[in-house]
Amino acid sequence: MVTSELENSKIETVSTSNNMALNNGLSQNNVQSQSDDKHFSYFSLYIVFQIIGLLLIFAVGFWIFVFRGGVGFSESKIIFNWHPLLMTIGFVYLFANSILHYRTFRHKNKRDLKNQHAIIHGCIIILILLAGWASFASHLYNNPPIPNLYTLHSWLGVVTILMFLSQFIGGFMSFLYPGIAVQYREAIMPYHVFFGVFNFALVIATSLLGLCEKLIFSLKDEYRTFPNEGLFGNFIGLLFMVFGGLVVFMVTKPEYKRHSKPEDSMLLSQGSE
Ligand code: HEM
Ligand code: HEM
Repeated sequence: MVTSELENSKIETVSTSNNMALNNGLSQNNVQSQSDDKHFSYFSLYIVFQIIGLLLIFAVGFWIFVFRGGVGFSESKIIFNWHPLLMTIGFVYLFANSILHYRTFRHKNKRDLKNQHAIIHGCIIILILLAGWASFASHLYNNPPIPNLYTLHSWLGVVTILMFLSQFIGGFMSFLYPGIAVQYREAIMPYHVFFGVFNFALVIATSLLGLCEKLIFSLKDEYRTFPNEGLFGNFIGLLFMVFGGLVVFMVTKPEYKRHSKPEDSMLLSQGSE
């Protein structure tokens, strides 16, 4: 009788620990499958994001080459056309890719991601400078010359570019070189993220204003008659808006955030996170 009770209690203990192991395994599986679901939903959106982004660049290129005479260095109007094309490639498409970089390549080493995040932003600065030059040069070479910085678009453009440059210098000095103490980095990070996303939203607003004024300047009264260029330009505006909304959604959704990995804290303790 005593032996059988002992055996029973042994069986219970074994089955309880088996159950716990099973439960643990199940909950780990659940966590794993939930995180797989999140990655799946992120990557499905990422494919849509790439399609819309590339379509946007293609649409701006199509508008410039089919309706606006293409790009070149010969006359004022043709020089100007570099401006929307380079701004769209650099300040809209590459910027979006750079702010999503940590989320897209979540399994990569943090130091590599940080270097790439900084390098992409550096490339964007070069494209912005070229695009800005195209606009200023086209105003200068126009006969008679067009005054600079008189529109709301150009004012917002200057603010957006200055904000981007400050964010770049601030991000570089805080997180890359020379780098600041860990507790200050942690305190700064929410502001870095907020101003990064705000800056991107401003880029979309500035591009929409620029596009709108270019259509009005070029088409004048014809805009009211629903010409092909006007309709196509409006379609590009919608693409800017959809692209902007999608990027802000993907970069602010907490579930898509890259989680720290053990080697990240090693980098932190070595002061090189
Ligand atoms: C976020 C991206 C953009 C930024 C930061 C930006 C910035 C600027 C700046 C600073 C100027 C003033 C240049 C000068 O006064 O000589 C300018 C001019 C201009 N931009 Fe943009 N631009 C952007 C995108 C676009 C886009 C997508 C278009 C669409 C066509 C566009 C159309 C124009 C036009 C028509 C001008 C000349 C008239 C004016 O000064 O407002 N821009 N832009
Ligand atoms: C104009 C320049 C920059 C902008 C607009 C910008 C914007 C952003 C944004 C929006 C995020 C949030 C990403 C997310 O939540 O997944 C972010 C994260 C971050 N950025 Fe920047 N950034 C810029 C430059 C830099 C530079 C130069 C560095 C230096 C390496 C840097 C380092 C970081 C780090 C360490 C993170 C944290 C990533 C994480 O822990 O998930 N950023 N940045």
